[in-house]
Amino acid sequence: MKKRHPLVEMKNVSKSFCKGSKQSIPVLEHINFEVYDNEVVSLLGRSGSGKSTLIRMISGLIDPDFGSIVCNDLPVNGPCRDTSMVFQSFALFPWLTVFNNVAFGLQAAGLNREEIERRTMRMIELIGLTEYANAYPKELSGGMRQRVGFARALAIEPKLMLLDEPFSALDVFTGQKLRQDLMDLWEQRKIATRSMILVTHSVEEAVMLSDRVCLLTSDPGTITDIFTIDIPRAERTRDNTQAWVNRIRDTLNEKIAMTA
Ligand SMILES: Nc1ncnc2c1ncn2[C@@H]1O[C@H](COP(=O)(O)OP(=O)(O)OP(=O)(O)O)[C@@H](O)[C@H]1O
Ligand SMILES: [Mg+2]
Repeated sequence: MKKRHPLVEMKNVSKSFCKGSKQSIPVLEHINFEVYDNEVVSLLGRSGSGKSTLIRMISGLIDPDFGSIVCNDLPVNGPCRDTSMVFQSFALFPWLTVFNNVAFGLQAAGLNREEIERRTMRMIELIGLTEYANAYPKELSGGMRQRVGFARALAIEPKLMLLDEPFSALDVFTGQKLRQDLMDLWEQRKIATRSMILVTHSVEEAVMLSDRVCLLTSDPGTITDIFTIDIPRAERTRDNTQAWVNRIRDTLNEKIAMTA
C-alpha cells in the first residue's frame, strides 16, 4: 500500500520558554506529529500542556528550539502561507468592518481590488454574514464575531486550519451550529482547506469532529496517546461515541494524575 504523505510533519520538536527570571523551562519535548490530507486531528491536554504553543509553531508564529516542521512540503521558517488560525478570543480588528476584517489577509497578500472583493464576498456569503458585511465587530453577537474569525481565516484559502478552542467562548447551541456549518463547508469541499487541527478541552467535541485525537501531557508536553476514531463522521451520535469519550477521558485522567 502506498504510504500516505503528510500535509504537516513535526520531527523531534522541542520548545522552552524563559519564565520571569532567566531560567528556561521546557514546554514541549520530542514532539513527532503528522497531519495527513483530508483529516481533522484534535489536541487534548490540561491547561499549560503546550497545545497553543504546538499549533503556533506550525503556523510559523514562533520557532521551535530543536527539530523541524514541514508544511505542504516546505520547511516552516516564519509565518506560513498555507495555514490560518482561529482563536478563542476571536481576535478581530475592532476598527474594521466585517468586510475589511475578512479582506485583511487578502490585502496583505497583495491581491488586486476585484479579486479581494470577489473572494471576501464569497466567504462572507458562505459563512452566513452577508447582512453584516458593513457592521463593526462590536455590533455583533459572539457567534457572529467568531463567524468573522472563521471567514477571515478561510479567505486566504489555507490548506490547513489551526483552530485554538474556537467554540469555547460561545454558548453550547451557537458553538454547535458554527461547528456544523464549518464541517459542512469542509465535507462539501466549498473551502480550500484540506485538513484541520483543533485544540479543545471538550472530549465530546474532539470525538465528534476528529479522525484522530491526540493527548498531550504536561511538564514538558509530550504526545502520549493517539486515538483513531473508527466511526464514520456522518454516522456519529452522542450514543455511539460515548465509549470513545469514556475511554479518552479515562486515559486523560490517568495521565493527568501521573503528572500532577
Ligand atoms: N510567549 C511565552 N513566554 C513564556 N512562556 C510561555 C509563552 N507562551 C506559552 N508559555 C508557557 O508555555 C506553557 C504552555 O502554554 P500554552 O499556551 O501552549 O498551553 P495550552 O496547552 O495552550 O494551555 P491552555 O489550555 O490554557 O490554553 C505554559 O506554561 C505557558 O505559560
Ligand atoms: Mg491554549
